[in-house]
Amino acid sequence: MDVSPSILTCDFSALADELVFVEHTGADMVHLDVMDGVFVPNLSFGPPVIAAMRPHTEMFFDVHLMMQHPDRLVDAFAKAGADMINIHLECADPIRPTLEHIHSLGKKTAITLKPATPAEEAFPYLDMVDMVLVMTVEPGFGGQSFMADMMPKVTALRQEIVRRGLPVRLQVDGGINAATAPVAAAAGADIAVIGSALFNAESPADLVKAVHAL
Ligand code: DX5
Ligand code: ZN
Repeated sequence: MDVSPSILTCDFSALADELVFVEHTGADMVHLDVMDGVFVPNLSFGPPVIAAMRPHTEMFFDVHLMMQHPDRLVDAFAKAGADMINIHLECADPIRPTLEHIHSLGKKTAITLKPATPAEEAFPYLDMVDMVLVMTVEPGFGGQSFMADMMPKVTALRQEIVRRGLPVRLQVDGGINAATAPVAAAAGADIAVIGSALFNAESPADLVKAVHAL
């Protein structure tokens, strides 16, 4: 299972150092949680911060847009250095045109499902995304508890991806740690977003190694 550390719980006053820390954990990409204060009741950071981070690491920027209107800033995120731009199915913009817009900028695409959104709602887009993210917490904050009842949704998506022979990756995000990562892997997820569990880990590199072994 690949690991995409979320920097939401990092020390934002030392962001460049935190990026070096993430890189040294052996993680596969870095998860950037963009929150607009409308789609979720929290506000994090936007394109200027991502642009400032870009020169400090070669890591793949996995950008999770928790935004009501992601399409308005797709160009800005692409220009800032996003490598994958992930929009919520529940956002207010038309999904297909927004995904096509992201693709037109040469970036990878992803869609995210909030806990209440059924797996089937993602099925029509599986042929045009590189990844589907199944939230295992309500989006908006780090440090929440893993929602195990999201596992049937992960399995339903995995089965549909396999059935159609699509190269779509399946990511889980929220409350992932040494105990919950195996549960998500068993359900069919192949990328784990890990935020607080990684930043609070005794040995972050050991946690990444354990998740890589799943
Ligand atoms: C929540 C974010 C998650 C969160 C994960 O809205 O999308 O990426 O930061 O943090 P943990 O791993 O602490 O649940
Ligand atoms: Zn996230």
